[in-house]
Amino acid sequence: MARRIVDRLFRILDKGQRGGGRVPVLPAPVLGTDFGSSSLEATMMRLETPRLTIIALTVQQMRWQRDDFGRLERAVGLAVSGQRLEDELRPIVSRAISHMRRRPYHVHWHCQWAAVLKEESRIIGSLAFKGPPDRDNAVEIGYGFDPFYHNRGLATEAVAEMVRWALEDDSVEAVIAETANTNVASMRVLQKVGFVISSATDRFLYWKIGGEGSF
Ligand SMILES: CC(C)(COP(=O)(O)OP(=O)(O)OC[C@H]1O[C@@H](n2cnc3c(N)ncnc32)[C@H](O)[C@@H]1OP(=O)(O)O)[C@@H](O)C(=O)NCCC(=O)NCCS
Repeated sequence: MARRIVDRLFRILDKGQRGGGRVPVLPAPVLGTDFGSSSLEATMMRLETPRLTIIALTVQQMRWQRDDFGRLERAVGLAVSGQRLEDELRPIVSRAISHMRRRPYHVHWHCQWAAVLKEESRIIGSLAFKGPPDRDNAVEIGYGFDPFYHNRGLATEAVAEMVRWALEDDSVEAVIAETANTNVASMRVLQKVGFVISSATDRFLYWKIGGEGSF
């Protein structure tokens, strides 16, 4: 189910244009367990790469991502660009917010991470882990970048940093990813980061970095 949503999102993202108002965003996983209300508003983590700042969005920031993108941009220190979240992605962000509130101890495995291009002070992509470590201690990563900025190595830079960050966590042994076997760009990103193919179907490839046999 979650994978189908991701695939659909990425088909949407493929059609996006800079300035057309589309903002890449990924769904949080569909998970349960009520944990009461969260105190996540103060949790603002940033990862740095040479060209990008990657910001883990808080619950409040994700509300703004959904309802008032300019306010999100201001909140993270950016000028208002006029971008907005595509309407059909709003329920997905709402679900992600709900998961973050229910599982504050797993917030960084559920939230959207906004990739800001430093030289333009603009959000150009989004990454997310699709939930906390599974029973094999693996987290799955997904990502989407504004087509205007493709093929500049930016997704590779961001994914590499997210993988590095995840593998530093004691509860994580591997990062996994799924690509359609037609998605050459995404496959190339994963190859460049160091993922290897762990299994395949007639339509999808399953990738892994870390864990037994690698790293
Ligand atoms: C996948 C995606 C994030 C890559 O973003 P990006 O910033 O362009 O990625 P990078 O520039 O780091 O790397 C892209 C690589 O793919 C290569 N590539 C892109 N299209 C290609 C094609 N049609 N054939 C062969 N190689 C291709 C680029 O040349 C580059 O490789 P190189 O550095 O060896 O030249 C972006 O295409 C995207 O957002 N796609 C839609 C969402 C999506 O598919 N997400 C992943 C789902 S698993």
